[in-house]
Amino acid sequence: MIVKYSIPLSFLLGLTVLVSCDSTSDVSILGEMVIPQDNSYSEEKLALGKKLFFDKRLSLDNSMSCASCHLPEKAFTDGLAIAEGVKGRKAFRNTPSLYNVGFSPTFMFDAHITSLEEQALVPILDANEMAATIKAIIDKLSKDPYYVQAVRKIYNREIDAWAITRSLATFQRTLISDNSPFDRYYYKGERGAISESAKRGWKIFSEKLYCIQCHTPPHFTNFKAENNGLYLDYIDDQGRFRIHGDSTDKGKFKIPTLRNIKLTGPYMHDGSMGTLQEVIEHYSRGGEQHVNKSPIIQPFHLNVDEKKALIEFLGALSDNNFEE
Ligand code: HEC
Ligand code: HEC
Repeated sequence: MIVKYSIPLSFLLGLTVLVSCDSTSDVSILGEMVIPQDNSYSEEKLALGKKLFFDKRLSLDNSMSCASCHLPEKAFTDGLAIAEGVKGRKAFRNTPSLYNVGFSPTFMFDAHITSLEEQALVPILDANEMAATIKAIIDKLSKDPYYVQAVRKIYNREIDAWAITRSLATFQRTLISDNSPFDRYYYKGERGAISESAKRGWKIFSEKLYCIQCHTPPHFTNFKAENNGLYLDYIDDQGRFRIHGDSTDKGKFKIPTLRNIKLTGPYMHDGSMGTLQEVIEHYSRGGEQHVNKSPIIQPFHLNVDEKKALIEFLGALSDNNFEE
């Protein structure tokens, strides 16, 4: 198994990565990834996590794996408005990309789960997603000599939720997008990596409009939960409000990354927008006037060429580099 991108040596050594911006060129443009001290990286753990991510035995009826919703070819999304679980059950939301997920301080659209290790159990146990039980999974995986041996060797224990979630988290921390045409242009000085129109689009995104205040490079999210005025009334899903019942959280969702955005539609937490054109129309109208809508979002006018340029720029954020 080869990890294609260059990662800092400290990452390979399994240490908490603390990189400073002025250090050598092998440091990713993405900055620091904090790895929990009790789940250090190893290639064996990565291989185990990868196998688990693609293993359908993690679901009730052996019909779906993590990759059934997080498809590598769609930058780890599924092309559906709302994800579908076992037996065609409707899940709750649109499937987010997993690129650079290891850099995120929180997970889910509610921005409330704080570790990838903890997150991994949620889809496995969710009745509308994989609908499995830990006991059933352990029974199945314990019959597979690869898993038994790998878990013993890496963790010095028998297969359990602890080993499964740590391995899945380790695999996900290796899903890195940092070499899109835009990255090569902006961070690596390759003037010709993106078109002139995409360059104009970047100026519009970052200077004429206000997008970077929330979709801030290099992650194209500042990881906060915000209300972007999608609805006047959030009826089916009130976002982060459901976690603490705090009315100032109504309609707030974790700001999604825009990396690989061309591959990850339909858009928004409920997949209600099919195209980037629709998204731009939404913002240009200034969004719906919900009380919690961020004041940053205000109406604007772009001509046809400017809209085209903005979409071309968004397309230059594609870096779907995963190799099976
Ligand atoms: C049925 C489809 C489905 C399956 C199967 C699934 N996911 Fe997801 N995943 C989703 C959806 C939908 C969300 C958003 C949930 C939310 O915000 O409430 C999500 C969110 C996530 C997130 C949070 C991403 C972020 O940026 O906040 C991670 C990490 C993740 N999934 C990993 C996994 C792993 C690991 C597995 C396998 C154990 C898995 N998923 C299985 C649909 C799925
Ligand atoms: C105040 C913060 C904020 C600003 C400013 C902002 N966005 Fe967003 N953006 C969000 C949030 C929050 C979501 C997700 C909302 C949801 O799912 O309900 C989102 C979603 C998106 C999506 C869909 C992402 C996906 O994977 O579904 C795109 C594309 C997008 N924004 C583009 C832009 C553009 C272009 C601009 C500038 C015109 C912009 N945003 C300005 C907060 C912001």
